[in-house]
Amino acid sequence: YRLWLRYDALSAQRAGAVAQRAASITGPDRPSAVVASAISELQRGLGGMLAREIPAGTQISAGTVILANPSVQARLGIDLPLSDLGAEGYLLRSMTLDGKPVTVVAANGDAGLLYGAFALLEHIQRGLPIDEMNMRSAPKLQLRVLDHWDNLDGSVERGYAGQSIWNWWTLPEHVDPRLVDYARANASIGINGAVLNNVNASALSLTPRYIAKAAAIADTLRPWGMKVYLSARFSAPIELGGLDTADPLDPEVAAWWKAKADEIYASIPDFGGFLVKANSEGQPGPQDYHRSHAEGANMLAAAVAPHGGIVMWRAFVYSAEDATDRAKQAYAEFKPLDGTFADNVLLQVKNGPIDFQPREPFHPLFGAMPETPLMMEFQITKEYLGQATHLVYLGPLWEEVLEADTRRHGEGATVAKVIEGRYGAHKLTGMAGVANIGDDRDWTGSTFNQANWFAFGRMAWNPQSSARNIAVEWAELTFGPRDDVTRTVLDMMMTSREAVVNYMTPLGLAHQMATGHHYGPGPWVSDLGRPEWNPAYYNRADKDGIGFDRTASGSNAIAQYAPPVAKEFGDLAAVPDRDLLWFHHLAWDYRMRSGETLWQSLLDHYQTGVEQVQAMERQWQSLKGDIDPRRFAKTADFLRIQEKEAKWWRDASVLYWESVSGKRAPEGYPEPA
Ligand code: GCU
Repeated sequence: YRLWLRYDALSAQRAGAVAQRAASITGPDRPSAVVASAISELQRGLGGMLAREIPAGTQISAGTVILANPSVQARLGIDLPLSDLGAEGYLLRSMTLDGKPVTVVAANGDAGLLYGAFALLEHIQRGLPIDEMNMRSAPKLQLRVLDHWDNLDGSVERGYAGQSIWNWWTLPEHVDPRLVDYARANASIGINGAVLNNVNASALSLTPRYIAKAAAIADTLRPWGMKVYLSARFSAPIELGGLDTADPLDPEVAAWWKAKADEIYASIPDFGGFLVKANSEGQPGPQDYHRSHAEGANMLAAAVAPHGGIVMWRAFVYSAEDATDRAKQAYAEFKPLDGTFADNVLLQVKNGPIDFQPREPFHPLFGAMPETPLMMEFQITKEYLGQATHLVYLGPLWEEVLEADTRRHGEGATVAKVIEGRYGAHKLTGMAGVANIGDDRDWTGSTFNQANWFAFGRMAWNPQSSARNIAVEWAELTFGPRDDVTRTVLDMMMTSREAVVNYMTPLGLAHQMATGHHYGPGPWVSDLGRPEWNPAYYNRADKDGIGFDRTASGSNAIAQYAPPVAKEFGDLAAVPDRDLLWFHHLAWDYRMRSGETLWQSLLDHYQTGVEQVQAMERQWQSLKGDIDPRRFAKTADFLRIQEKEAKWWRDASVLYWESVSGKRAPEGYPEPA
């Protein structure tokens, strides 16, 4: 339950050293609610680690932590360079004031002080030296938002960690204290917003009853630097307003939304704005009225603009009419709209062109819409990666996408830099993560799933962060700073993503999960109503070969990438093996660069995936006694499930490929269970 904020008592020696620098707190004369949170967290964290009461007041003595905004600095005559920290950045510095050793957390704004306080606590928890601290950090993205796919009935779409944490029944009168811990956890990793309800939105969330509930949540999250947002159902003017249209160009519709926005802001003055899934998977949208996505988004944007709100408009669209290649549709619809969105609209684009697969190449819209702020949408909940049970650290997946070079603005124009807004005049930047949080005791269904929540916050703060460094931080905070434990846990985490790719969808395969639940294998499924829902549509396996031809001889989706990228993906000599079957349809006997046939290589990948899971199991067992029994046992049990299911994936996939290709796995290849 405590996540990475454990604050266990330090050894006497370490506690003594920390107390020299951090044993009391002072700050602004009249602390705001956010600064009060920083103080209470320091009291809780230092109090736990030093096992004593931590006084907060006006006095400065040896070992005081000073929360220093510009006026505190002026009062104390310190002058630390804050100019490039923005409103949310911070600086940590060990100093001597009047001969007393102190620690200064300096920032321009309250949020910066809060984030700096957490950074100090993290530093201490990780056992790092605190005598000569000199660190600075500022977020590279403004909106760092969790998208909860939570329904008003308490269920969570694609949620694998219990029910929704929003207690809609008892709100607004009773707010579960758990929400404070949720806010603390988010603040500790720099997350500053939450979309409360599912993108497949119910219009009910915009009724006065639910606005009052959302307001109570907003009141709870605000002291931790977080804003709330709502998913808006585009047809709400019909369902709630009694209008007979939701046409965005109809003045009555625009007026309805404006009044709705005014009503929300009357209860939630810092309401963040709307997230919209429109004309996607059956959701209503502007195209129902032959209007464009931009016309729809801009109408909503005008409603929230007077209050400083924004609209996050999703680019996750694919239509039933044109199913030649689902991967092409978002680009085809949105690229022509570049430059037509209002200033307070961001386009929220999933990391890949299909749907949160274990591996996808980066979405071709990144870099292709320089006049539009694109925000990244990652999925923290592992819908297609073994859900709650499989141990998969998503840091490497996200890093791989963020590091990808779009080649749109010369070399080095990575996806990370695109979302940081380096190439356009627009001002908004952001990253959204589909939350993996529920009311389970461990919040995320497993201990290791907590790492994905943590890593998302870090990547949103700095999209150029290293997945490996984040894993080290998380492991030290979660299991204590012990080198041997950290090494083993790090090793497990860093192989885990490649393992799941290997046993589920190696060599660029995608969307092979069984229908609906997306959990186990289903590469044979081909009879669903819409072609692009069928795994067989993606693998195209038959007796001659396997893979989706997206080159010029096929769907030509590669033409949506910048020419040098298209050239690389299109060229069999250059395309990375990991993306091979995403872009090419190849004979089973195609010779890989390794000299193996494609068939043999596929077999090897499935088996390697199984062996990687077995290795993780052995590594985890080697930590017995180093990890508390409860967390040890649950992870060990889940790894056993994962091993069984990795074999299930291998066997089901290989048997199916055998049945279509006429090939056989060679003697000695594991027999299906
Ligand atoms: C996936 C997921 C859906 C979700 C959709 C979305 O397709 O399976 O549950 O609604 O993504 O992102 O809108």
